Amino acid sequence: MKLIAAIACGTVAATVRVSARNTFEAPNFNVTEALIQNGVNVSAIPELAGLAMRSSPSACSIACGSLEVVFGKEKTVRGQNAAYWSNQQAVVVPYCTFTPNTTLEVSSLVLISRLTQCPFAVKSGGHAAFPGASSIHGGITVDLKDFTVRKLSADQKTVAIGPGNRWVDAYRYLTPYNLTIVGGRAARVGVGGLTLGGGISDLTNEYGLACDNVASYEVVTASGVIVNASPSRYPDLYWALRGGGNNFGIVTTFHFKTIVQPPMWGGMRIHDPSTTPALITAFENAINNAEADTKLAHVVSFTTYDTYQLAFTELEYLLPVDLSHPPEIAREYLSIPFMQDKTSNSTLEDLTPHRSDDMPSGFRTSMCSASFKVSAELIQKMTDRFFEVAPGLPAVSVNIAFQAFSKPALQAMQKKGGNALGLYPENGPFFHVLVYMAWNESSDDTTMMKAAQSYIETSKGMARELGVDNEYYYMPYSSGHEPVVSGYGKENMARLRAISHRYDPMQVFQNLQPGYFKLDGKAPLGASL
Ligand SMILES: Cc1cc2nc3c(=O)[nH]c(=O)nc-3n(C[C@H](O)[C@H](O)[C@H](O)COP(=O)(O)OP(=O)(O)OC[C@H]3O[C@@H](n4cnc5c(N)ncnc54)[C@H](O)[C@@H]3O)c2cc1C
Ligand SMILES: *[C@@H]1O[C@H](CO)[C@@H](O)[C@H](O)[C@H]1NC(C)=O
Ligand SMILES: *[C@@H]1O[C@H](CO)[C@@H](O)[C@H](O)[C@H]1NC(C)=O
Ligand SMILES: *[C@@H]1O[C@H](CO)[C@@H](O)[C@H](O)[C@H]1NC(C)=O
Ligand SMILES: *[C@@H]1O[C@H](CO)[C@@H](O)[C@H](O)[C@H]1NC(C)=O
Ligand SMILES: *[C@@H]1O[C@H](CO)[C@@H](O)[C@H](O)[C@H]1NC(C)=O
Ligand SMILES: *[C@@H]1O[C@H](CO)[C@@H](O)[C@H](O)[C@H]1NC(C)=O
Repeated sequence: MKLIAAIACGTVAATVRVSARNTFEAPNFNVTEALIQNGVNVSAIPELAGLAMRSSPSACSIACGSLEVVFGKEKTVRGQNAAYWSNQQAVVVPYCTFTPNTTLEVSSLVLISRLTQCPFAVKSGGHAAFPGASSIHGGITVDLKDFTVRKLSADQKTVAIGPGNRWVDAYRYLTPYNLTIVGGRAARVGVGGLTLGGGISDLTNEYGLACDNVASYEVVTASGVIVNASPSRYPDLYWALRGGGNNFGIVTTFHFKTIVQPPMWGGMRIHDPSTTPALITAFENAINNAEADTKLAHVVSFTTYDTYQLAFTELEYLLPVDLSHPPEIAREYLSIPFMQDKTSNSTLEDLTPHRSDDMPSGFRTSMCSASFKVSAELIQKMTDRFFEVAPGLPAVSVNIAFQAFSKPALQAMQKKGGNALGLYPENGPFFHVLVYMAWNESSDDTTMMKAAQSYIETSKGMARELGVDNEYYYMPYSSGHEPVVSGYGKENMARLRAISHRYDPMQVFQNLQPGYFKLDGKAPLGASL
């Protein structure tokens, strides 16, 4: 197409144009006008200027062509040009990959998508595992990798972290100050997806999830307006962003509350599976005693790899540990025989890389999850079942990991108005299972996914029998076949939808950004295979 390249790109951020009514966007909102206000000279792109507000077969050709003209060829590449953790995402080919580096460019992207009706997907660290989660066939993949800001506030109480950062980048920046933030445990995972879905951290027992420790979000809304949502500004949007995933806007900066964190302790221990009963008892006791000491983080997991079957504990303590006088809360775990002990006095910067190394990219991968009320009996049954089914799968590795939402973690989730997840201390504590699988061949996709789904269903059945089932699914660990937002409960789902209609009356983030867990509460890839 013939496009004229003389476009003035404004540097003035779009100003808030909140209508006096209770919707954020005026009924007569004009997308073209908003683009002009962003400095995009729409009349210089005849294809854009001529568009009606409806779908066009060449929508994405026009959208990508316009992005290329306005923002340049370095930022707009035809086809797939983003890095993903799972091969299922990496093989999805968009019409173009757009790599903005300013919030205003993100705003214009949203408006160009609206004008052309070309759909998009947003990518931060690209660790969501299923196709379409942060990729889009034939649409625009918006790769936020150049949003790499890391900046402490003058009083060091908050830190601005862009969604182009991986967790290790944030920790490395903060370590010299003896500061950290509540974030992911694997170095290479992205700040965006993890924080928007919740965010389980080594610090969760004490401080709650990553989302519970965000002071404010800089977010591009459906009308291209850039706002800072915090407990005092747009508090309903702030609440919705705490667990609401990609449904409310594109977050261009997370302002995290900083936490003073001098060197700590942690790492992995490998055990023979014969220690399973002791591990499960230790897991249960550490959850039930969490109120006495919130400094311990613990994960118990099991794996089959080639012909090996192994058990693991991942332990962290928020202070250095002298193994000859360990803290009371960690004693039971530390008394269990081990084959290898990799724990040490360390920092999050140094504790996180091994978890990414142990779950490498470059495979077909899947995660799925379910949550339950704490029951050692159920965990034992689920572990037995795992060792029955996992060794027969055509996998590179298959793993289950048990983690907890202890009472103190659930209490910490209620601060600053609470999050959207529907998890409350009076119903807890909970534990959840993460099924993580890696395999090579796409011809094994159905076998692998069916096995995982059947494992989750069997586990839920066993939980019902024991009276410990629970509807909640942890978004960042869920597969495309799980109904995540429904699991937040009817009330929270209704509240999320009302907030979505307020800030996004045309439902841009539901329709033009179709991937991942939407507010209809359904499984994005369908409930069954
Ligand atoms: C090796 C590994 C280790 C993990 N460890 C942990 C852990 O310790 N704790 C934990 O809680 N989870 C963990 N997870 C799960 C992880 O949180 C999810 O995979 C999460 O989706 C990754 O975020 P991302 O930004 O890398 O993913 P992406 O695939 O980039 O994004 C996931 C979703 O979030 C949306 N999104 C991302 N950024 C933005 C943004 N800025 N604005 C709007 N929408 C956005 C995307 O559109 C997409 O739908 C781990 C996963 C892996 C693979
Ligand atoms: C939107 O604004 C543009 C540019 O000012 C104008 O040409 C167009 O007619 C407007 N569209 C509507 C539906 O009002
Ligand atoms: C916008 O583009 C049109 C057509 O190319 C041109 O005539 C006009 O001067 C441009 N306006 C600005 C502000 O650059
Ligand atoms: C964004 O990209 C442009 C063009 O590649 C570059 O000139 C500019 O310095 C970048 N800005 C930021 C904030 O990184
Ligand atoms: C960080 O903590 C360590 C150990 O407590 C201390 O020795 C060091 O001085 C602290 N550094 C800063 C910058 O506060
Ligand atoms: C870890 O730190 C503690 C407290 O400073 C110390 O007693 C212990 O010896 C250290 N452990 C190692 C292995 O250095
Ligand atoms: C998967 O592929 C890797 C790398 O090509 C290979 O080493 C491994 O044996 C394969 N595993 C299975 C189970 O196919």
